[in-house]
Amino acid sequence: MPHNPQISSNPSKLHLFPDAEQASLYVAQQIAALIRQRQDQGKSAVLGLATGNTPKLVYKELVRMHQHEGLSFSNVISFNLDEYYPIIPEDKHSYTYFMQKYLFKHIDIKPYNIYIPNTDSSADRIPQYCRAYEHKISGFGGIDLQLLGIGRNGHIGFNEPGTSFHATTRLVNLHSVTREDAQNDFGSITNVPHQAISIGIHTIVQAKKILLLALGQKKSDIIYQAIKGQITTQVPASILQSLPQAEYVLDREAGAKLDEERQ
Ligand code: GLP
Repeated sequence: MPHNPQISSNPSKLHLFPDAEQASLYVAQQIAALIRQRQDQGKSAVLGLATGNTPKLVYKELVRMHQHEGLSFSNVISFNLDEYYPIIPEDKHSYTYFMQKYLFKHIDIKPYNIYIPNTDSSADRIPQYCRAYEHKISGFGGIDLQLLGIGRNGHIGFNEPGTSFHATTRLVNLHSVTREDAQNDFGSITNVPHQAISIGIHTIVQAKKILLLALGQKKSDIIYQAIKGQITTQVPASILQSLPQAEYVLDREAGAKLDEERQ
């Protein structure tokens, strides 16, 4: 059975919650605490944000905190991990649309502080655009807190299996599992784009704090591999094992295989 010294010597990296609500609440509270701490210091908070089903309850809780507890996002600068290519921001399948729907339109973040890869441009301009995106992130001093989900194939952002751990923001080809998982959103597999722009693994690992949130039984196999398996480019999320600033936040179903081992 593979042994992971990081986890056994540092159990605080792993947060197991009974259900998705409680796991999401923990993540939202971490984000809110960072925002408030930076406000007290008169500073910005740079967030790296994710899309997909996983962070929806986190965003719902952040919206609630804004509406009922006075949490302001006026000092927040946000960078999204990725976006399909090509897609226009107005498309309801775009991550721009997703972020507006679930978070941005409900809070007081300044629109000019929102960065989401804009893939509505010609292929020859993409490398330059990706360099500029990286430059923007470093210009703000890097990401303070990066929220991640995980694909069933272990991807983080759209960094698919086989991606170099040194990769930066770039145009990527989507893995068949990723496209399959997106087909419900797009209505059919033929409508799912074949490419995306994703920030790289190198970009992600530079974040000062990383929270990988995984929910549901469908993630239990890959979570086990990512946490207990070898650190390998074949499971991009496995790189987090080596990062002291990374934490895994799981509900009971996503952590089921880890739990089995403990019993
Ligand atoms: C997409 C996103 C990832 C996300 C993953 C998991 O591919 N690019 O950032 O983590 O899906 O999605 P879900 O949360 O819906 O399982």
